[in-house]
Amino acid sequence: MTTEHKATMSFSDGTPSVEFPILTGTIGPDVIDIRKLYGQAGKFTYDTGFLSTASCNSSITYIDGDKGQLLYRGYPIEQLAVHCDFLETCYLIYYGELPTPAQYQDFQSLVMHHTMVHEQMQFAVRGFRRDSHPMAILASLSGSMAAFYPDSLDINSPEQQDISFVRLIAKMPTLAAMAYKYSIGQPYMYPQNHLSYAGNFMHMMFATPCEKYEPNPVLERALDRILILHADHEQNASTSTVRLCGSSGTSPFSAIAAGVACLWGPAHGGANQACLEMLEEIQANGGLEKVGEFMERVKDKNSGARLMGFGHRVYKNFDPRAKLMQETCREVLAELGLENDPLFKLAMALEKIALEDDYFVQRKLYPNVDFYSGIVQRALGIPVNMFTCIFAVARTIGWVSQWKEMIVDPEYKIGRPRQLYTGLTERPVKPLESR
Ligand code: CMC
Repeated sequence: MTTEHKATMSFSDGTPSVEFPILTGTIGPDVIDIRKLYGQAGKFTYDTGFLSTASCNSSITYIDGDKGQLLYRGYPIEQLAVHCDFLETCYLIYYGELPTPAQYQDFQSLVMHHTMVHEQMQFAVRGFRRDSHPMAILASLSGSMAAFYPDSLDINSPEQQDISFVRLIAKMPTLAAMAYKYSIGQPYMYPQNHLSYAGNFMHMMFATPCEKYEPNPVLERALDRILILHADHEQNASTSTVRLCGSSGTSPFSAIAAGVACLWGPAHGGANQACLEMLEEIQANGGLEKVGEFMERVKDKNSGARLMGFGHRVYKNFDPRAKLMQETCREVLAELGLENDPLFKLAMALEKIALEDDYFVQRKLYPNVDFYSGIVQRALGIPVNMFTCIFAVARTIGWVSQWKEMIVDPEYKIGRPRQLYTGLTERPVKPLESR
C-alpha cells in the first residue's frame, strides 16, 4: 500500500517539517498517512465533514463520482443489478466473491431459515404508540437484537460474527414489516421461507391472514433491485456511524442500530420521500404546465427550494443507480398499467429540462438514486413513511460487512477524532453563594 512517494508538511511557526508516507489503493486518489503528525509536530488536522479524510481502508465498495461509477467488490452496479439478486449481492459484499450455485443455494437456505424473530419481540413492538415512525421502531428493534440473541455477541469469534451477519440480513425485513403492520393495526405476518427474499418481504408487508398472497414477479424483482442499489455506498454517514460505534467493541446489533438512527435523517435516507413530496406538490399546483416556473424557483438562491433527487456530494455525473431506477420505474408502471402516471411524466420532464439547463450543467447536477425510487416505491404500495426502512433493510448488508471488515483489520482501533477547542481556558469555580 505504501508508495515510494512522500508528502512533506512545512510550517511557518518554526516547527520542523514532517515527512509522511503516501499510500496508494488499487484505484482512487492516493492518501497521505498523517497518523504520526501529532507525535512529530504536536498538531492535528482539521476536516469537519471529512471532506478530505479517509477514515479507514476498505475493499468493499468503490465510487468514482466523476465517472459515475459504483463497484461492489470490483463488479459494476449495472451488471450486478441485471445478473444477480439481492442475496447473491449480500454474499458478494460480505464474503468478497459471488457465490457458486451450490454456495448460493446453501446461503439462501441459511438466510431464509433465520427470517423468524424471537416471539417476544412482538411485545417490544406493542410497547410503542401506534403512530410511531417505523424508523424509530426499527432503530429500537435492531438494537434490541442484542438482548434477544445474546449467544452471538462475542465480536472476536469468527463464528459469532457470521451468525450475527446472517441474523441481521434475515431478520431486518421481518422487523421492518412488523413496524409497518403495527402502525396500520394489522396482524404481523410470519415469514414464508419458500418465497424469495424480496417476495417474502412483500408478503410480510402486504399479506393478511385472510387471503392467499402471491407476490407479483415484476414488482418482486423491482423491490429486489431497490435492495441491490442501496446495499452499500462506501463510507457514507450511516456506515461511518456503524464503524465508529462498532469500534468500541459493542455488539454488531448495537452498531447497526446506530446506523439506522443516522440513516433516518433527511440529508441521508430521507431524500426519496422529499423528492416524491416535491413531485406531488408540483402536480397539485398545476403539473406539467408549471414545471418551468418550478425550475426558475429552484435556480433562485433566495427561494431556498432545491430540485430534490438532483445533485450528490460524490457523484458529479449521472448516479449510475438513477439510470437503473428509472428503468425499474418504467417496468413497474407498465406492469401496473400506470404508464401515464402523472408523477413519472413530471419527473421525466424535470430531468429533461435540468439536463439541458446551464444552471445544472455548470454545477454538474445530475439525477441521483432518489429521483425515481420514491415513484417506484409508491407504485409498489409502500407508504412514504416506510421508504427509509426499505433503505435500512438494504443497507444492513453494507453496514454489517463494513463492521466485520473493521473488526478483523489488524490496524483496528477505537475511533477517537480530535478537535479544535474554542471554549474558555481554565478558570476557577466560584462556590454557589458567591456567584
Ligand atoms: N437543486 C438546485 N441547486 C442545487 C441542487 C439541487 N438539488 N444541489 C446543489 N445545488 C447547487 C447549490 O445551490 C450550489 O450552487 P452555488 O454553487 O451557486 O452556491 C451548488 O449546486 C453546489 O451545491 P452544494 O450544496 O454545495 O453541493 P453538495 O455536494 O454539498 O450537496 C446534495 C449535495 C445532495 C446535498 C445537494 O445536491 C442536494 O441538496 N440535493 C437535493 C437533495 C437530494 O436529492 N439528496 C439525495 C442525495 S443521494 C442520497 C444517497 O446517495 O444516499
